[in-house]
Amino acid sequence: MSAVDMRVRIGDLELRNPVMTASGTFGSGREYAEFVDLSRLGAVVTKGVSIEPWSGNESPRIAETPCGMLNSIGLQNPGVEAFCANDLAWLAAQDVPVIVNVVGHSVDEYAAVAAQLDSEPVVSALEVNISCPNVDAGGMAFGTTCAAAAEVTRAVRAETRKTLVVKLSPNVTDIAEIARAVEAEGADGVSLINTLLGMAIDTRTFAPKLARGVGGLSGPAIRPVAVRMVWEVARAVAVPVIGMGGVTCAEDAAEFMLAGAAAVAVGTANFVEPSATLSVIDGLERFCAERGIARVAELTGAAWPERGKRET
Ligand SMILES: Cc1cc2nc3c(=O)[nH]c(=O)nc-3n(C[C@H](O)[C@H](O)[C@H](O)COP(=O)(O)O)c2cc1C
Repeated sequence: MSAVDMRVRIGDLELRNPVMTASGTFGSGREYAEFVDLSRLGAVVTKGVSIEPWSGNESPRIAETPCGMLNSIGLQNPGVEAFCANDLAWLAAQDVPVIVNVVGHSVDEYAAVAAQLDSEPVVSALEVNISCPNVDAGGMAFGTTCAAAAEVTRAVRAETRKTLVVKLSPNVTDIAEIARAVEAEGADGVSLINTLLGMAIDTRTFAPKLARGVGGLSGPAIRPVAVRMVWEVARAVAVPVIGMGGVTCAEDAAEFMLAGAAAVAVGTANFVEPSATLSVIDGLERFCAERGIARVAELTGAAWPERGKRET
């Protein structure tokens, strides 16, 4: 037993530590299993799953940018039935909580995926993605107004009693009001941020680097934006916040928790270092131990002004 209590709670879900994978950057875990002992993770968050198979966008759909990357994958996935038969069946044999990222072109599609996953015992929680910038119908369109975000949350809530997390878009003026809207409809937590809408143009060919033109920016370049948004949301809602956006090491994870996150997700860093999640977990435990912090959960919101400054 470690000297630091690393457990955190998201709704009814107790996680062994606050570090999970960010949707779309870790497959369903299988591709990473030779680098990462999945049973050490707080949770595996799967790629987005829709009711029917989606083929995703045309290539090129990845471009490197300073301290980050742009992607326009477009939620390519085999559909919920194949996902349950293959990915979930494999995950059932792993000792790790499974959070399934849910996507749809319409409110009914979100609800249908949630209904199907509700009967799968291996699914610990749903993460409803109303924030993907890479699809024309659905995705981010549901995450940019309070009314649409509330409608999707209400429809999914009606289909499942599992822990329900809603993943928010940073491509809005006031992310806290969206968070309040989904909390009011029964979300047990919110996760943020999804990618920031961006673009890069090749100055040799004069053409956008992504076939779709625009894409989602992720990686360390977005971290200060993400930390600011976690700070705003965590102070606006009572439900737990899962923070992400450019986490590469324990200090980054601690920064999100100090801003108010109960847990964090590691995304783009998995592409650079497949075992990044494990070094964040080990480093976070050391971070707490070295500062005499007995429970990692004590970091949550510890930077808020009313908590006062820490003696160093
Ligand atoms: C290649 C790629 C695919 C992604 N796919 C999804 C997805 O299917 N569902 C989702 O909610 N977020 C998706 N995201 C967003 C990430 O989960 C995360 O919110 C974002 O990348 C910020 O974290 P990071 O900077 O650590 O990558 C994807 C990101 C990348 C880079």
